Amino acid sequence: MPTLNDRALSLARGIAVRAGRFLRERRSLRISFKSGVGNLVTDMDRASEERILRAIRKEFPGHAIVAEESGRHAGEEGRWFVDPLDGTTNYAHGLPLYAVSIGFEWKGKMEVGVVYHPELDDLWWARRGEGAFRNRDRLRISKTSRLDRAMLCTGFPYAMKPKIANLKFFSTFVRRARAVRRLGAASLDLCFTAAGIYDGFWESRLGPWDIAAGLLLCREAGAVATDYAGKPTDLFTGELVVANRAIHGQMLAVLRRA
Ligand code: IPD
Ligand code: CA
Ligand code: CA
Repeated sequence: MPTLNDRALSLARGIAVRAGRFLRERRSLRISFKSGVGNLVTDMDRASEERILRAIRKEFPGHAIVAEESGRHAGEEGRWFVDPLDGTTNYAHGLPLYAVSIGFEWKGKMEVGVVYHPELDDLWWARRGEGAFRNRDRLRISKTSRLDRAMLCTGFPYAMKPKIANLKFFSTFVRRARAVRRLGAASLDLCFTAAGIYDGFWESRLGPWDIAAGLLLCREAGAVATDYAGKPTDLFTGELVVANRAIHGQMLAVLRRA
Protein backbone atom coordinates (compact mmCIF):
# COMPACT_ATOMS: atom_id res chain seq x y z
CA MET A 1 0.00 0.00 0.00
CA PRO A 2 1.50 3.38 -0.93
CA THR A 3 1.92 5.70 2.05
CA LEU A 4 0.60 9.26 2.10
CA ASN A 5 4.07 10.56 1.24
CA ASP A 6 4.40 8.09 -1.66
CA ARG A 7 1.14 9.41 -3.05
CA ALA A 8 2.13 13.04 -2.44
CA LEU A 9 5.50 12.57 -4.17
CA SER A 10 4.00 10.82 -7.13
CA LEU A 11 1.31 13.49 -7.49
CA ALA A 12 3.82 16.35 -7.12
CA ARG A 13 6.17 14.84 -9.71
CA GLY A 14 3.38 14.21 -12.18
CA ILE A 15 1.79 17.64 -11.94
CA ALA A 16 5.08 19.55 -11.88
CA VAL A 17 6.14 17.85 -15.12
CA ARG A 18 2.74 18.32 -16.75
CA ALA A 19 2.54 22.00 -15.75
CA GLY A 20 6.15 22.59 -16.80
CA ARG A 21 5.64 21.07 -20.25
CA PHE A 22 2.49 23.13 -20.62
CA LEU A 23 4.55 26.26 -19.85
CA ARG A 24 7.25 25.30 -22.31
CA GLU A 25 4.92 24.39 -25.14
CA ARG A 26 2.05 26.82 -24.85
CA ARG A 27 3.97 30.00 -24.26
CA SER A 28 1.55 32.89 -24.20
CA LEU A 29 2.81 36.26 -23.20
CA ARG A 30 -0.14 38.27 -22.03
CA ILE A 31 1.63 40.20 -19.31
CA SER A 32 0.01 42.20 -16.53
CA PHE A 33 1.45 43.80 -13.41
CA LYS A 34 0.76 42.77 -9.84
CA SER A 35 2.19 45.82 -8.13
CA GLY A 36 4.67 48.21 -9.67
CA VAL A 37 6.33 47.73 -13.05
CA GLY A 38 8.80 45.08 -11.79
CA ASN A 39 6.24 42.53 -10.64
CA LEU A 40 4.94 40.71 -13.71
CA VAL A 41 2.35 38.02 -13.98
CA THR A 42 1.39 36.29 -17.23
CA ASP A 43 -1.75 34.38 -18.07
CA MET A 44 0.51 31.29 -18.04
CA ASP A 45 1.20 31.71 -14.28
CA ARG A 46 -2.54 31.58 -13.66
CA ALA A 47 -3.27 28.77 -16.11
CA SER A 48 -0.46 26.66 -14.66
CA GLU A 49 -1.70 27.25 -11.11
CA GLU A 50 -5.29 26.32 -11.99
CA ARG A 51 -4.11 22.99 -13.41
CA ILE A 52 -1.95 22.20 -10.39
CA LEU A 53 -4.65 23.09 -7.86
CA ARG A 54 -7.25 21.06 -9.73
CA ALA A 55 -4.99 17.99 -9.57
CA ILE A 56 -4.21 18.41 -5.85
CA ARG A 57 -7.88 18.86 -4.98
CA LYS A 58 -8.86 15.80 -6.95
CA GLU A 59 -6.38 13.56 -5.10
CA PHE A 60 -6.43 15.28 -1.67
CA PRO A 61 -9.68 17.23 -1.39
CA GLY A 62 -9.20 18.02 2.32
CA HIS A 63 -5.68 19.48 2.17
CA ALA A 64 -4.76 23.16 2.54
CA ILE A 65 -2.96 24.93 -0.28
CA VAL A 66 -0.78 28.05 -0.27
CA ALA A 67 -0.40 29.12 -3.88
CA GLU A 68 1.31 32.21 -5.22
CA GLU A 69 -1.45 33.50 -7.49
CA SER A 70 -4.62 32.54 -5.60
CA GLY A 71 -3.33 32.70 -2.01
CA ARG A 72 -4.37 30.51 0.90
CA HIS A 73 -6.97 27.77 0.66
CA ALA A 74 -7.98 26.30 4.03
CA GLY A 75 -7.81 22.57 4.74
CA GLU A 76 -6.70 19.96 7.24
CA GLU A 77 -3.28 18.66 8.26
CA GLY A 78 -1.72 18.33 4.81
CA ARG A 79 -0.54 21.58 3.22
CA TRP A 80 0.75 22.20 -0.29
CA PHE A 81 2.98 25.08 -1.39
CA VAL A 82 2.69 25.89 -5.07
CA ASP A 83 4.67 28.21 -7.30
CA PRO A 84 3.14 27.53 -10.71
CA LEU A 85 5.88 29.45 -12.54
CA ASP A 86 8.96 30.51 -10.65
CA GLY A 87 11.03 32.96 -12.67
CA THR A 88 8.16 34.75 -14.42
CA THR A 89 10.35 37.62 -15.63
CA ASN A 90 12.84 35.15 -17.16
CA TYR A 91 9.96 33.32 -18.81
CA ALA A 92 8.45 36.51 -20.19
CA HIS A 93 11.81 37.47 -21.73
CA GLY A 94 12.52 34.01 -23.14
CA LEU A 95 15.34 33.20 -20.70
CA PRO A 96 15.16 29.42 -20.19
CA LEU A 97 15.49 29.61 -16.40
CA TYR A 98 12.08 29.07 -14.89
CA ALA A 99 10.48 26.20 -13.01
CA VAL A 100 7.42 24.77 -11.31
CA SER A 101 7.86 24.30 -7.57
CA ILE A 102 5.67 22.16 -5.30
CA GLY A 103 6.16 21.33 -1.62
CA PHE A 104 4.04 19.06 0.57
CA GLU A 105 3.92 19.49 4.35
CA TRP A 106 2.35 17.08 6.82
CA LYS A 107 1.87 17.98 10.51
CA GLY A 108 4.24 20.93 10.23
CA LYS A 109 7.08 19.06 8.48
CA MET A 110 7.99 19.44 4.81
CA GLU A 111 7.88 15.86 3.56
CA VAL A 112 8.17 16.21 -0.20
CA GLY A 113 9.69 18.83 -2.50
CA VAL A 114 9.65 18.84 -6.29
CA VAL A 115 11.04 21.42 -8.73
CA TYR A 116 10.70 20.82 -12.45
CA HIS A 117 12.91 22.72 -14.91
CA PRO A 118 11.14 22.28 -18.25
CA GLU A 119 13.87 23.58 -20.55
CA LEU A 120 16.34 20.91 -19.36
CA ASP A 121 13.66 18.33 -18.55
CA ASP A 122 15.22 18.10 -15.09
CA LEU A 123 13.15 16.84 -12.20
CA TRP A 124 14.62 17.85 -8.85
CA TRP A 125 13.00 16.16 -5.87
CA ALA A 126 13.43 15.20 -2.24
CA ARG A 127 11.73 13.29 0.53
CA ARG A 128 12.40 14.11 4.16
CA GLY A 129 15.00 11.70 5.54
CA GLU A 130 15.54 10.01 2.19
CA GLY A 131 17.79 12.37 0.26
CA ALA A 132 17.56 14.79 -2.64
CA PHE A 133 17.89 13.94 -6.32
CA ARG A 134 18.21 15.46 -9.78
CA ASN A 135 16.37 12.88 -11.86
CA ARG A 136 18.11 9.70 -10.56
CA ASP A 137 21.28 11.31 -9.25
CA ARG A 138 21.74 11.83 -5.52
CA LEU A 139 22.62 15.42 -4.57
CA ARG A 140 25.27 16.62 -2.16
CA ILE A 141 26.08 20.19 -1.30
CA SER A 142 29.47 21.66 -2.03
CA LYS A 143 32.52 20.88 0.09
CA THR A 144 34.19 24.24 -0.50
CA SER A 145 35.18 25.69 2.83
CA ARG A 146 36.50 29.14 1.87
CA LEU A 147 34.38 32.08 0.85
CA ASP A 148 37.06 33.34 -1.53
CA ARG A 149 36.70 30.07 -3.48
CA ALA A 150 32.90 30.05 -3.40
CA MET A 151 30.34 30.82 -6.08
CA LEU A 152 27.28 32.30 -4.41
CA CYS A 153 23.82 33.15 -5.61
CA THR A 154 21.13 35.59 -4.53
CA GLY A 155 18.07 37.42 -5.82
CA PHE A 156 16.30 40.73 -5.45
CA PRO A 157 12.65 41.23 -4.54
CA TYR A 158 10.37 42.70 -7.21
CA ALA A 159 8.98 45.43 -4.97
CA MET A 160 10.57 48.69 -6.06
CA LYS A 161 11.93 50.40 -2.99
CA PRO A 162 14.07 53.51 -2.87
CA LYS A 163 16.62 51.43 -0.94
CA ILE A 164 17.23 47.84 -1.94
CA ALA A 165 18.78 46.40 1.21
CA ASN A 166 20.37 43.45 -0.59
CA LEU A 167 22.62 45.72 -2.68
CA LYS A 168 24.98 46.26 0.22
CA PHE A 169 25.28 42.50 0.87
CA PHE A 170 25.69 41.92 -2.85
CA SER A 171 28.51 44.42 -3.10
CA THR A 172 30.33 42.86 -0.14
CA PHE A 173 29.95 39.28 -1.42
CA VAL A 174 31.08 40.31 -4.92
CA ARG A 175 34.35 41.39 -3.36
CA ARG A 176 34.70 38.56 -0.83
CA ALA A 177 33.56 35.51 -2.84
CA ARG A 178 34.92 34.07 -6.08
CA ALA A 179 31.69 34.88 -7.93
CA VAL A 180 28.11 35.93 -7.28
CA ARG A 181 25.18 35.10 -9.60
CA ARG A 182 21.63 36.38 -9.77
CA LEU A 183 19.48 34.23 -12.04
CA GLY A 184 15.90 35.15 -11.13
CA ALA A 185 14.32 31.82 -10.12
CA ALA A 186 14.76 31.08 -6.42
CA SER A 187 13.54 27.47 -6.67
CA LEU A 188 16.30 26.68 -9.20
CA ASP A 189 18.87 28.64 -7.19
CA LEU A 190 18.14 26.29 -4.30
CA CYS A 191 18.34 23.19 -6.53
CA PHE A 192 21.72 24.35 -7.83
CA THR A 193 22.83 24.91 -4.23
CA ALA A 194 21.68 21.39 -3.27
CA ALA A 195 23.70 20.03 -6.21
CA GLY A 196 26.89 21.79 -5.05
CA ILE A 197 26.96 24.04 -8.14
CA TYR A 198 26.56 27.07 -5.91
CA ASP A 199 28.48 27.01 -2.66
CA GLY A 200 25.91 29.21 -0.97
CA PHE A 201 22.65 31.12 -1.41
CA TRP A 202 21.15 34.06 0.43
CA GLU A 203 17.99 36.09 -0.16
CA SER A 204 15.19 37.76 1.79
CA ARG A 205 11.51 38.54 1.19
CA LEU A 206 10.90 35.24 -0.57
CA GLY A 207 7.46 33.63 -0.55
CA PRO A 208 6.85 30.19 1.00
CA TRP A 209 6.01 28.87 -2.52
CA ASP A 210 9.46 29.99 -3.74
CA ILE A 211 11.39 28.01 -1.14
CA ALA A 212 9.27 25.15 0.28
CA ALA A 213 10.57 22.53 -2.17
CA GLY A 214 14.09 23.86 -2.74
CA LEU A 215 14.81 24.17 0.95
CA LEU A 216 13.96 20.52 1.54
CA LEU A 217 16.30 19.59 -1.33
CA CYS A 218 19.11 21.61 0.24
CA ARG A 219 18.58 20.13 3.69
CA GLU A 220 18.45 16.60 2.32
CA ALA A 221 21.68 17.30 0.42
CA GLY A 222 23.35 18.27 3.70
CA ALA A 223 22.98 22.06 3.84
CA VAL A 224 22.56 24.28 6.87
CA ALA A 225 19.71 26.78 6.39
CA THR A 226 18.85 29.68 8.68
CA ASP A 227 17.76 33.31 8.53
CA TYR A 228 20.38 36.11 8.51
CA ALA A 229 20.57 36.02 12.31
CA GLY A 230 21.37 32.29 12.32
CA LYS A 231 17.88 31.38 13.61
CA PRO A 232 15.74 28.60 12.12
CA THR A 233 14.20 29.62 8.81
CA ASP A 234 10.55 30.43 8.78
CA LEU A 235 8.95 29.78 5.39
CA PHE A 236 6.74 32.82 5.80
CA THR A 237 9.43 35.35 6.67
CA GLY A 238 11.36 34.16 3.62
CA GLU A 239 14.88 35.12 4.75
CA LEU A 240 17.45 32.49 3.90
CA VAL A 241 21.15 31.68 4.07
CA VAL A 242 21.91 28.18 2.79
CA ALA A 243 25.34 26.52 2.50
CA ASN A 244 27.60 23.93 4.07
CA ARG A 245 28.50 24.69 7.69
CA ALA A 246 31.81 26.42 6.93
CA ILE A 247 30.51 28.73 4.18
CA HIS A 248 27.29 29.34 6.09
CA GLY A 249 29.25 30.69 9.05
CA GLN A 250 31.32 32.99 6.82
CA MET A 251 28.20 34.23 5.04
CA LEU A 252 26.44 34.97 8.34
CA ALA A 253 29.46 36.97 9.47
CA VAL A 254 29.21 39.13 6.31
CA LEU A 255 25.45 39.56 6.63
CA ARG A 256 25.82 40.64 10.27
CA ARG A 257 28.61 43.12 9.52
CA ALA A 258 27.61 44.61 6.15
C1 IPD B 1 10.65 35.28 -7.99
C2 IPD B 1 11.93 34.53 -8.26
C3 IPD B 1 13.13 35.40 -7.97
C4 IPD B 1 13.12 35.99 -6.58
C5 IPD B 1 11.82 36.76 -6.36
C6 IPD B 1 10.62 35.82 -6.58
P1 IPD B 1 8.41 34.62 -9.37
O1 IPD B 1 9.54 34.43 -8.17
O2 IPD B 1 12.01 33.36 -7.49
O3 IPD B 1 14.34 34.65 -8.09
O4 IPD B 1 14.21 36.86 -6.45
O5 IPD B 1 11.78 37.25 -5.03
O6 IPD B 1 9.43 36.53 -6.36
O7 IPD B 1 7.62 35.85 -9.04
O8 IPD B 1 9.14 34.70 -10.64
O9 IPD B 1 7.58 33.40 -9.20
CA1 CA C 1 8.50 32.49 -7.29
CA1 CA D 1 5.63 32.54 -9.56
